Amino acid sequence: MFSARVPPLRSNRVARALARLRSAGQPLDDLTISNPTLVGLSYPDRLLDPLAQPAALCYDPAPFGVWAAREAVAAHLAGRGVRVVADRVILTASTSEAYSLLFKLLCDPADLVLVPQPSYPLFEHLTRLDGVVASPYALEYHGRWELNLDSLHRAIEPRARAILLVNPNNPTGSFVRPDELHAAREIAARHELAIISDEVFDLYPLDARAPGRSGALVEETDALTFTLGGLSKSAALPQLKLGWILVGGPETLVRRALDRLALICDSYLSVATPVQLAVGTLLERAVPLADQLRRRVRTNYAALRSLVRRYPACQVLHAEAGWYAVVQVPAIRSEEALVIELIEKDRVLVHPGYFFDFPREAFLVVSLLPDPIGFADAMTKVLTRAVG
Ligand SMILES: Cc1ncc(COP(=O)(O)O)c(C=O)c1O
Repeated sequence: MFSARVPPLRSNRVARALARLRSAGQPLDDLTISNPTLVGLSYPDRLLDPLAQPAALCYDPAPFGVWAAREAVAAHLAGRGVRVVADRVILTASTSEAYSLLFKLLCDPADLVLVPQPSYPLFEHLTRLDGVVASPYALEYHGRWELNLDSLHRAIEPRARAILLVNPNNPTGSFVRPDELHAAREIAARHELAIISDEVFDLYPLDARAPGRSGALVEETDALTFTLGGLSKSAALPQLKLGWILVGGPETLVRRALDRLALICDSYLSVATPVQLAVGTLLERAVPLADQLRRRVRTNYAALRSLVRRYPACQVLHAEAGWYAVVQVPAIRSEEALVIELIEKDRVLVHPGYFFDFPREAFLVVSLLPDPIGFADAMTKVLTRAVG
């Protein structure tokens, strides 16, 4: 009766260990947390007041969003050095929805999109739910993460439709370097592929010398490009459900893409009016919040690197940006066994590397969002268990 787009709903050993702990009412240090609203940040008072504007009582549907809201997003991005005109800004309910709209635009069932590996695990579901196949290309760690261009070339097949870049990537924290971006653009233009560049974490550099630059594809003239962002990460407001797609590329292709996207977006009209009318003010008021978050992730990343020095068998992989860190630990037992021991014996939850398709063991992925004191305590337990 049901479609094969929904993957088999199997539980796994880690989920079962977690469920046992939770049903016993035991507390847990959650080092997988990705929800910025639950980590003790101080949100400005009356931040959400602009959602209650009387103008929001009027519904005036527009496929790409309310014009003033698209202008407000363009103006905000201009302040961050991204030059985009409002008629190339499309508002969506989230980045996840943006992926779905773009897969509908670019792919027929069973077409391929090329995704980095390791990367964001939701790609598996986002692609599958749209009947699309995620075909991996490799990121490799050589003191920093690098895009393996040979593997990108190898992943190209007649049914490939788009290259997905996550810049900076989750969980590796790596920016796509300018030379890698240049190569990806050339490949995309030559093979008539679009580029989808997910830049949701661009406001969170961990390393001031990191080479990446956000919005670099907006002024692209050879390949068709879609740059993704949204309030979820850049304003720490995932519950407001507003993201954006910035369209770039050769004028004729952009026009054809926009005509088709207008039909797709018009079929859903999923972004609520109040958040659109408020987006300019929200982006302004959320600047101190993003600053707070940036300090938080930097503090935790620095603390983690200094803590790991006491555990010579472990290393923190170099990260340039984002909300996560990757720790390599001795492969003396499987990642799964270690993660379950951490849940059962230490009441700490971390992600195993296999969750993000790391090519080998043993890696742990931890969120840099938690309160710094709890983070350092929980990480001490993790490292002690990992080497024990
Ligand atoms: C790389 C990446 N892209 C997109 C998203 C989802 O963003 P949104 O809340 O806008 O759907 C996430 C969420 O963690 C992410 O890690």
